[in-house]
Amino acid sequence: MLVRSFLIVCFLFFVGNVVTMAQDHDFVGSKKCKMCHNKPATGEQFKKWSEGPHANAMASLKGDEANDPKCLKCHSTYATANPDLIAGLKADEGVSCESCHGAGGSYFPNAIMKDREKSIANGMIIPNEQTCTACHNEESPTFKGFNYEEYLKKMAHPNPAKQ
Ligand code: HEC
Ligand code: HEC
Ligand code: HEC
Ligand code: HEC
Repeated sequence: MLVRSFLIVCFLFFVGNVVTMAQDHDFVGSKKCKMCHNKPATGEQFKKWSEGPHANAMASLKGDEANDPKCLKCHSTYATANPDLIAGLKADEGVSCESCHGAGGSYFPNAIMKDREKSIANGMIIPNEQTCTACHNEESPTFKGFNYEEYLKKMAHPNPAKQ
């Protein structure tokens, strides 16, 4: 029974990845998300992000570092996105919403967003620890360890209306 569930989980993971890879969604930029995700009553996600470390990740790169693919790899969503899919995302956004939640071009319309399953089917990602460790790892020259629970608290932007 356990083995069977494990195989099913593996299979779903595999299919999930293939589906995500097969679909190309445009990167619309954080301003688009701001339209609906900046109200205090629902957690003002845009404001919290813009005041946090990720939105300001480009400020840490000095001089030539700001053009160095070795640094941009983790400090910039814009620099790592497929140029053909950039539709609104800006270079100064640092690590934008779409680095963690997936490119929003297909899921941002309200009719899709209000339905969680449809949003996921259209590329929305509910981030987990693996999302973070893609960047929070030893390849970072300033790496000082990563504790998911602790780090999550420092950048959380929950919707109080849903708690
Ligand atoms: C037209 C309005 C609108 C836009 C634009 C929009 N959203 Fe949403 N979003 C919603 C609504 C409505 C919900 C459902 C209620 C909720 O969970 O806040 C939602 C839910 C979410 C959730 C919660 C999913 C869950 O169930 O845990 C995430 C994450 C999210 N949006 C991210 C984004 C990102 C990233 C962008 C920009 C690429 C974006 N949204 C743009 C309206 C919008
Ligand atoms: C695309 C790469 C990327 C992803 C994905 C990512 N981060 Fe980050 N994170 C960064 C960078 C780059 C910085 C440093 C920003 C700066 O100060 O220049 C950072 C900084 C932080 C900081 C501030 C650390 C400090 O020393 O003050 C926290 C907290 C954090 N991230 C939590 C998370 C969590 C939790 C996740 C997953 C949900 C996550 N990050 C996903 C790239 C990323
Ligand atoms: C593998 C991903 C990754 C790469 C590659 C990367 N960084 Fe970072 N960087 C991070 C993360 C994550 C943080 C947040 C620090 C932490 O909490 O570990 C960070 C933080 C920083 C900081 C803030 C100082 C600090 O201690 O918080 C500076 C400065 C920085 N990086 C410069 C660079 C430069 C310069 C390069 C290219 C030579 C680079 N980074 C490449 C992920 C990366
Ligand atoms: C560094 C990664 C990261 C970035 C950048 C990021 N988020 Fe999130 N976001 C998360 C994580 C992790 C959660 C919690 C997922 C869960 O429910 O377990 C989350 C949750 C959310 C939720 C759901 C809140 C709830 O309680 O229902 C919304 C809405 C959301 N993010 C919108 C945004 C928007 C809009 C931006 C950009 C302005 C953004 N996020 C940037 C990682 C990120």
